[in-house]
Amino acid sequence: MPKFLTLDDFNFKDKVAIVRVDFNSPIDPKTKKILDDTRIRAHGQTTIKELMEKGAKVVILAHQGRPGEPDFTPLKQHAEILSKVLKKPVKYVDDIFGEKAQKAIKELKSGEVLVLENVRMYPKERDKGTPEEHAKTEFIQKLAPLADVFVNDAFSAAHRAHVSIVGFTAVLPSAAGRIMERELKSLSKVLENPEKPCIFILGGAKADDSLEISKYVLDNAIADDVLTGGVVGQVFLAAKDVDLGEPNMNFLKEKELTSLIPGIKELIKKYSDKVKTPKDVAVEVNGERKEVLVEELPTRYPIFDIGTKTVEKYKGIVKDAKSIVVSGPLGVFEKADFSYGTREILGAIANSKAFSLAGGGHTVAALKEFGLKDKISYVSIAGGALTEFLMGKKLPGVAALEKAAARRS
Ligand code: 3PG
Repeated sequence: MPKFLTLDDFNFKDKVAIVRVDFNSPIDPKTKKILDDTRIRAHGQTTIKELMEKGAKVVILAHQGRPGEPDFTPLKQHAEILSKVLKKPVKYVDDIFGEKAQKAIKELKSGEVLVLENVRMYPKERDKGTPEEHAKTEFIQKLAPLADVFVNDAFSAAHRAHVSIVGFTAVLPSAAGRIMERELKSLSKVLENPEKPCIFILGGAKADDSLEISKYVLDNAIADDVLTGGVVGQVFLAAKDVDLGEPNMNFLKEKELTSLIPGIKELIKKYSDKVKTPKDVAVEVNGERKEVLVEELPTRYPIFDIGTKTVEKYKGIVKDAKSIVVSGPLGVFEKADFSYGTREILGAIANSKAFSLAGGGHTVAALKEFGLKDKISYVSIAGGALTEFLMGKKLPGVAALEKAAARRS
């Protein structure tokens, strides 16, 4: 578990706290409306509420989208949602560190919350740098003198060495917020000394990430088994020289996933008994589900799910596991006929007594659709940061908090 300070280490009464959260949310490209406010609710109900109740003057920094993309919007809407979550007025200014923002910070009263503008409107925000380098930017130079403490609650953006993520930690006392703390605690539970057997179930389409995660958790004896499904399962089968049939092989080639095959071959060679691939798959024939054994492949039809035999086998492994990480659906669960694999495996995880951790946008959407979200021990709100953490990478935002903590002790 990384060593950082938390909200318990500071007295926030009448203090200005700059709080970096991750409000980045899916946005409807036409209406520009937020489609899912999970992250805003998560930060609002925990860190922000606690700081308000402790009498801090809370200054929120966050990003939304990337410049040039349709989801790159101001944070006015986020501030309005936050106000509903907190059931208190929330101030908002369309400025990050200019005069308007500075004035609004100086006018804040204890227990009030101010949301500043999307930090990515500052052109240098996304430059990569060390805390010390970023501390020299106008952004940090203008805001840090107005604040007493920096709180980083944005675990899901901690894989970015961006100005607002690491810059303040070089010049202000810094703490992890409650979401940062809870994500790291839950992840440490499965990555540091997990209760065994520990299994990783990797589905979805990101075979490159799944390969990196598998390597890390197997090489470090974290996982006892890695179970594959979805497109990841297909790529792993292809790496075992299974011909999936033209539509599927073409799909994989289009996605350039074939370039991963040498790495997956090596992994399977090293851990042949630990890397599990589907025994059977479900294909779509004239709009209907049909199951095909792997021995019966190739098929002329597109593969959209794992088959019944695979589901039974994987459920048996889930039943015996004490720690489970699941990331990525096992099939195209959005299509009713092909939701079977994902629904059954997520259901088995939900019913197990193991510590379970789920993450990734599609996995969370599937859990919500099947009404299983509350039965998972921990559902991460992170995407890319979670993936990098599971690959064993040090996240710059977390490293910066550790460095700040070491400086104070
Ligand atoms: C996320 O949504 O994963 C984070 O907010 C990071 O966003 P980014 O990939 O645009 O840096």
